[in-house]
Amino acid sequence: MPDLVWDLHAHLIPGVDDGVTSIDDALESIRGLQALGYRGSVLTPHIYKGVYPNTRATLEPALTALRVALAEAGVDYAIHMAAEYFADEHLIELASREPLLSFGPPASPHVLLEYPYSVEPLLWADALSALVRAGYTPVLAHIERYRFVCDDPKLWLQRFAQFGVKIQCNIGSLVGQYGRPAHDLARQLRDDGVPAFWGTDLHRPSQIEKFIKPGLTHLTDIGVLNAQLT
Ligand SMILES: [Fe+2]
Repeated sequence: MPDLVWDLHAHLIPGVDDGVTSIDDALESIRGLQALGYRGSVLTPHIYKGVYPNTRATLEPALTALRVALAEAGVDYAIHMAAEYFADEHLIELASREPLLSFGPPASPHVLLEYPYSVEPLLWADALSALVRAGYTPVLAHIERYRFVCDDPKLWLQRFAQFGVKIQCNIGSLVGQYGRPAHDLARQLRDDGVPAFWGTDLHRPSQIEKFIKPGLTHLTDIGVLNAQLT
């Protein structure tokens, strides 16, 4: 096992997206992460206009309820709320208008964003420009899951590098959680030392035993996982 401190990328705020639906499942997930050795999570609820219309204001009460439940259960686990922004016109507008939900050092805030899986997104560069212009380091969620990236990883890595994008991969991809192309690309990127972050992208507690625990055994050469967050 690598050293585990912070997880980046998880959907453990109940009822706000396609992640856990109850406080009980959130607690079970966090206890499971803790049992693996994690000491904290950067939670990343979806913000996707028309699908998951979350805002800082709507998310904060749900986050507080989770914090209260953790305290009542006596679970000592650090929680930071960021978000997983869908790269669309809404994100571009938000970036210019208000502070985004970010993580990392205050001097260099990071924002997690995702693209559609199958087709090359028209706004891929505009979204990255908007984030960089607003002072953020873009972090691309689960790069190995995009079909257009799998088709030509070298081209896309070069494109993303022009915007200073940091790459996040999902631990479960290493053991086939998302199919063969994602598995193969995740292993290749791991071998090449590309990902700055490895995340659980946890949506329900059962994924820990099934994908995260076995996936972590393929990251033993990494000293501290997500060292940039520690
Ligand atoms: Fe996610």
